Amino acid sequence: MNRIDAELDRNKMDELNDKIIKENIGKEIVLGDGNLNSTIMLIGEAPGAKEVELKKPFVGQAGKQLQEFLDILELDRDKLYVTNTVKFRPTGKSRRTGSEVNRAPSKSEINHFKKYLFEEIDIIRPEVIVTLGNVPLRAVTGLENAKIGDFHGKKTKVIISNSEYILFPLYHPASVIYNRSLKEEYIGDVRNLKNMLCEIKI
Ligand code: URA
Repeated sequence: MNRIDAELDRNKMDELNDKIIKENIGKEIVLGDGNLNSTIMLIGEAPGAKEVELKKPFVGQAGKQLQEFLDILELDRDKLYVTNTVKFRPTGKSRRTGSEVNRAPSKSEINHFKKYLFEEIDIIRPEVIVTLGNVPLRAVTGLENAKIGDFHGKKTKVIISNSEYILFPLYHPASVIYNRSLKEEYIGDVRNLKNMLCEIKI
């Protein structure tokens, strides 16, 4: 990509980010982060407390999980573009302790943020979209009841804003931590992703 195209993309992303912030006043927004020229776009669910604190997706515990993923792929984080489907931290109250805890984003929250995600994808135009868990899988495929168990570790195709992308869904790394066999499956899937990236010369 030449310097002018890179600058245009930066401007478009800055405009989109300004719009997300302006249209969601009162919410602590965590924007996408990384290389706008990346061939791989990684999409998570929603930021957690640490992400809100540091204003960056996948930091803290989630950042460690991301690092494990990057180590298998032998990729540096700064080569990648990383974002979330929903760009604020959805919270609820713990019934047990009364404290604020993460919750899954609602369908309407996902729908609201999906339009920004699609614009983001249109600016990055990656070769491969990697989704982590059900939330981004459902958002990019439009299949509201899609289950990651049926899609993980296999490449498929999606059309977003009239462009076709390779989609490679993975389990959300946080969901496999306490489940050893699922964790092995997840690691196997990331290795499959690595092979696929080699095959298509990315
Ligand atoms: N942190 C993020 O930024 N996204 C997730 O999906 C989980 C943790």
